[in-house]
Amino acid sequence: VAPLLPRGLDQLEARAKEKLSASAYAYYADAAYADAARTRGAPIDNERAWQSIWLRPRVLVDVRGVSTATRVLGEEIALPVMLSPCAFAAHAHPEAESGAARGACAAGTLAVISTASSQSAEEIAKAAAGPLWFQLYTEPDRGATDERVARAQSLGYRALVFTVDAPVGAPRYSGYPELGFGAVATGAQLDPSLDWRELERIAAKAKLPVVVKGVLHPFDAAEAAQRGVRGIVVSNHGGRQLDGVIPTARALGEIADAVAGRLEIYVDGGIRSARDVLRALALGARAAWIGRPWIWALALGGAAGVQELLDRLREELRNAMMLTGQLRADAVARDIAVARGAP
Ligand SMILES: Cc1cc2nc3c(=O)[nH]c(=O)nc-3n(C[C@H](O)[C@H](O)[C@H](O)COP(=O)(O)O)c2cc1C
Repeated sequence: VAPLLPRGLDQLEARAKEKLSASAYAYYADAAYADAARTRGAPIDNERAWQSIWLRPRVLVDVRGVSTATRVLGEEIALPVMLSPCAFAAHAHPEAESGAARGACAAGTLAVISTASSQSAEEIAKAAAGPLWFQLYTEPDRGATDERVARAQSLGYRALVFTVDAPVGAPRYSGYPELGFGAVATGAQLDPSLDWRELERIAAKAKLPVVVKGVLHPFDAAEAAQRGVRGIVVSNHGGRQLDGVIPTARALGEIADAVAGRLEIYVDGGIRSARDVLRALALGARAAWIGRPWIWALALGGAAGVQELLDRLREELRNAMMLTGQLRADAVARDIAVARGAP
């Protein structure tokens, strides 16, 4: 079968851009304060920060038994990569979130489905052949939030990924009025009153494990561990919320120290290769999540494109693990990651 994606994954975005309408591309690529004059500060910092970490291989290890498989909240996945929740996937491909979920399942991993998906949580759950996690945005109306949680639970979603880095929306100046997001794009449905107490209230009601997405400060990570949260996502929302924010590759190590194994850590933002995934594992993540890359893959090939992307990442990770003497994705040594010195 002819590959759906470009040979080099660094070409993924450029190829998707050719295929998408100008406004769809602008929406997916967008970031806080991005405009024609000053494009995408934080997303680029995210990508560069991973590249600023060198890999320091171990040698003379029998690596025939290498395994990319790991567990997230007890669920076995074939590779330590998951799909970050991204809103409104239908502008990338008609298969939308259902396609992404099917692609992830086929590759043996999990997709996290956004509250703001193009398709309903029902439709996506039906389309997927395996488990999914649900990303939660709360609403000022707490009854509506509770209903949303109960519905995700009854549909069989396995975990609640609580996004906490969006008490308000961010200034986005690119503009894509044709997509017709209205209140969603301006963040009018978000809840600025969201705090630890509200998180605990929802967690107590939900019978699902809670993961907090959007943690960048080690104090917040420690707080989450203390409050019985099962996992955190070190994330700056792909640079779409606060510009000038710390890149996740920089935040991760300190957070892993603060958490000291009390909860699972995932990370997203600028993960663009299997080497980036390996860097994330070395710095303490259990899995790396990808946002825009799955949107680009979906645009180029629907569910099959997403599966191809994940399969490629799995094969390339396997290779990178063998070349760094690492046998298990859930036990990558921290000392294979070294901060780049001054050139
Ligand atoms: C188009 C788009 C929509 C997004 N929508 C959501 C969302 O609904 N909920 C959420 O928690 N994060 C959302 N995010 C953030 C992603 O979950 C993730 O944190 C980010 O994309 C990771 O960075 P990356 O795109 O560089 O991989 C969105 C990101 C993009 C690009």
